[in-house]
Amino acid sequence: MHLGRTTLSKFLIQELDGTEGARDLAALLIDVAAAVKAISAMTAKGALAGVLGSLESENIQGEVQKKLDVLSNTAFVNTFQMGGLVAGIASEEMDDPITVPSNKRGPFLTIFDPLDGSSNIDVNVSVGSIFSILRAPVGREVQPSDYLRSGREQLAAGYAVYGPSTMLVLTVGKGTHGFTLDREVGNFILTHPGIRIPADTNEFAINTSNERFWEPPVQRYIAECKAGKTDIRGKDFNMRWIASMVAEVHRILMRGGVFMYPKDTKDPSKPGRLRLMYEANPMGMVVEQAGGFASTGRGRILDVTPEQIHQRIPVILGSRNEVERIERYHQEYDTGADQRYSSPLFKERSLFQ
Ligand code: F6P
Repeated sequence: MHLGRTTLSKFLIQELDGTEGARDLAALLIDVAAAVKAISAMTAKGALAGVLGSLESENIQGEVQKKLDVLSNTAFVNTFQMGGLVAGIASEEMDDPITVPSNKRGPFLTIFDPLDGSSNIDVNVSVGSIFSILRAPVGREVQPSDYLRSGREQLAAGYAVYGPSTMLVLTVGKGTHGFTLDREVGNFILTHPGIRIPADTNEFAINTSNERFWEPPVQRYIAECKAGKTDIRGKDFNMRWIASMVAEVHRILMRGGVFMYPKDTKDPSKPGRLRLMYEANPMGMVVEQAGGFASTGRGRILDVTPEQIHQRIPVILGSRNEVERIERYHQEYDTGADQRYSSPLFKERSLFQ
């Protein structure tokens, strides 16, 4: 037993000191940690607990649900319903949010992805949970539109990564901090205070099998990274793709990098793969609080006004200078400033000039 270590509870008491509703927010984040511990135990047991594999069901996104998707969702929902701190619960795995009865209602709304990257579960690769906390309306029933607030309004956000160790990484708007689960004792211990993402990097993460579906500015950026020292970047890059956003963002918080799931034309009905409310907004807050930047390619993610709870969005996040460069490439494409990579509209115009 190590004495004098900062537990999550002690950290939250200190971090939230003087903040309005501090006790309730700290208590809710401790509830999040309780659900995370339950999910961590299930994922760690894997096949021994009979939790691997898929169900017959699909979620609202049309994805086949894994057993652990549903079990993780239940772990969060039960914890929040019993905790008395939320008025509404929205999950990527549920068609509609749950409204908590008025006699059990608390001051917050929670929005979460209970098990992100769950296609990795059956192959024993890291997965995670992502959460976001908003203030609930006062003195009335929660309406679906109450969830549709920009990422700037998040009171807290974070994720848990179930890897070789389980970590909880969160922000209450005063920096991003990481806690490691001490399994024997059952406590989250502050191990990574004040995480900072370096502004520059030579590592990128993108699913390159989609390359032909990307927009030209993304093709341009990746082509330059791949050309490395032989082209304008003047340095070689490395590529990673875990297919688990949580693990990808965690690596970026630990050593920098850029993660992209950009707009593509693979399925024209979807403007991106990732979900604004369950993935992009909470990860955007975590990344920006660590000094990084999160963009759609055409603007800051946290400034987007949501239209639907299950809305999808392009996501480009990580080391600030790289994300800003990618935004610039989008702008040059949209305005025709770069003839090699400008939109067809501008190419046509220049032909006739
Ligand atoms: O649905 C989210 C997600 O699983 C992310 O965690 C991950 O980054 C991405 O999808 C993986 O996508 P793909 O299957 O294209 O590699």
